[in-house]
Amino acid sequence: MVKKPDRVNEFSKYRKDFPSLNRKINGNPIAYLDGPGGSQVPQPVIDSISNYYKNSNANTHGNFQTSEETDNIIETARQAAANFLGAENSSCISFGANMTTLNFSLSKAIARSLQKGDEILITQLDHEANRGPWLNLREQGIIIREVLLKQDGTLDYFDFQKKINERTRLVAVGLASNALGTVNNIGLIRQLSYEAGALLLVDAVHFAPHFPINVSSLGVDFLICSAYKFYGPHVGILYARENILERFSPDNLRTQNQSAPYRIETGTLNHAAIAGVNAAINYIAAFSKGDNQQTKLKDAMQKINSYEHKLASMLYSGLEKNKGVKVFGPSFDEPLRAPTISFTIDGITSADACKKLGVKGLCLWDGHFYAIRAVEVLGLLEKGGLIRAGISIYNNEQEIERLIEEVKVISQN
Ligand SMILES: Cc1ncc(COP(=O)(O)O)c(C=O)c1O
Repeated sequence: MVKKPDRVNEFSKYRKDFPSLNRKINGNPIAYLDGPGGSQVPQPVIDSISNYYKNSNANTHGNFQTSEETDNIIETARQAAANFLGAENSSCISFGANMTTLNFSLSKAIARSLQKGDEILITQLDHEANRGPWLNLREQGIIIREVLLKQDGTLDYFDFQKKINERTRLVAVGLASNALGTVNNIGLIRQLSYEAGALLLVDAVHFAPHFPINVSSLGVDFLICSAYKFYGPHVGILYARENILERFSPDNLRTQNQSAPYRIETGTLNHAAIAGVNAAINYIAAFSKGDNQQTKLKDAMQKINSYEHKLASMLYSGLEKNKGVKVFGPSFDEPLRAPTISFTIDGITSADACKKLGVKGLCLWDGHFYAIRAVEVLGLLEKGGLIRAGISIYNNEQEIERLIEEVKVISQN
């Protein structure tokens, strides 16, 4: 008898950490395949948020214990984020409401240093949060150039080379696409940006939950990500290379600390959620053993990556076998491919297909996921966009099989 291959289950023991997995929808266990829109949250993260409100709730910089505890919680989370991103130190890490808000603040700050006729390079593949803030600068005479997206879901690097020039002041590009799972060629992008003397800002929102990050090997000036995509709460995280934030003038108050990382942090932050950021990073680090937090995080993210890649390849090939299904984005032969699979089903809109999957307890997003330009370029915007399945650590092989089966049923009806 041929032995059935072992199940992909390295992370199944961690499912119990996520209370939200206990839900059922119409009698079916809920399967969260909506991670790219925001991942589920494990109990230690929930506890850290609730403990903050129970014990240490206060504003910062006071001369009393709960305020000192709050300062401490924020600085600890800053150090955790610095470890997660491989930053030089914790003063390179600023917090904000989310990636979009931080990017708007940064774009306004950078804009104050630009002259009419200066150029910024963005891409057609990016989420609107890394396009809109830069496109707005056209109002002040900044020229925005857009790198083309190819139909295979990758950037056109010849076009990139054509459009970057000595007037390019900033390249704003994503590390991974939340719509197609493409991982961009950051080595080439960095080289071209350096040669042009441009700053390099990367949107790591979709990359951070799935790959280890090291800002110094990436060689970026700015990197922005969002903790709610990697098992944390809704907090945006900005990495700014040491001493760079001081070169720009963000909106801020006279009462605000003018040095990094506070320079771009306006008003009172979400302290409870920031406590949760620390807990989420510690939760990830605990997938690995060792003393050094940075090495542990790198190793843990590699484990996450290899697990998710296996599940995602399984889903990709399962969907591809289906005649009525068209899968978009690069293939899983690519070693660097985010575990995010977008597809369409013949004869049904993506919204209607997701409603049918939803009834079975399968949670998937449909539409453009704010990567509206990419979906437009693929010619899918008018047709209702894509169906997107995202893999996270709490997903398992049974959920992938359920999804493949339900998609088959929909496509055959
Ligand atoms: C690739 C990418 N960039 C930016 C964002 C915006 O992030 P935020 O919701 O933190 O503003 C998202 C959110 O889905 C995203 O997936």
